[in-house]
Amino acid sequence: MTLPSSRPLSTLLLTALCCSIVFGFNVDVKNCIRHRGPEGSMFGFSVAQHKERGRSWLLIGAPEAQTAQPGVEKGGAVFRCGTAREDDCEEIPFDTRGNNNSSKWIQIDSKSRQWFGATVRSSGDNGVILVNIKHS
Ligand SMILES: *[C@@H]1O[C@H](CO)[C@@H](O)[C@H](O)[C@H]1NC(C)=O
Ligand SMILES: *[C@@H]1O[C@H](CO)[C@@H](O)[C@H](O)[C@H]1NC(C)=O
Repeated sequence: MTLPSSRPLSTLLLTALCCSIVFGFNVDVKNCIRHRGPEGSMFGFSVAQHKERGRSWLLIGAPEAQTAQPGVEKGGAVFRCGTAREDDCEEIPFDTRGNNNSSKWIQIDSKSRQWFGATVRSSGDNGVILVNIKHS
């Protein structure tokens, strides 16, 4: 058995929730800093905030970036960007090696188009940075 007053209360809660979502949204478009990455790299596909020794960083994923990894095509990268100046980014050297080979020089994996940087997360102040690839 339901209480007769439960329906008006839930309607009121729902209305309050809707209003707060519609009217509570606010974006500051005047004080912004723009970072640009390599063309065609999907720079900005993922973004996370990170703090290291009191300094704030933006971690920006570019899953189709061409890296310097030998024999790897568009392996994907994550950039570390400052919060004070525009276009203040550098690639984080997570993995600089090419595809892995077996002891008999047979290629055992492929880092080409692995979409490294599809997701990026910070584990907190001075913590580790987690980066995922996208599995197809
Ligand atoms: C492949 O190379 C990466 C570093 O480039 C290493 O972390 C990983 O363990 C290697 N995987 C295998 C199966 O050897
Ligand atoms: C595996 O072999 C390829 C082709 O010789 C080379 O480009 C690549 O650097 C090698 N990988 C590693 C991890 O040494």
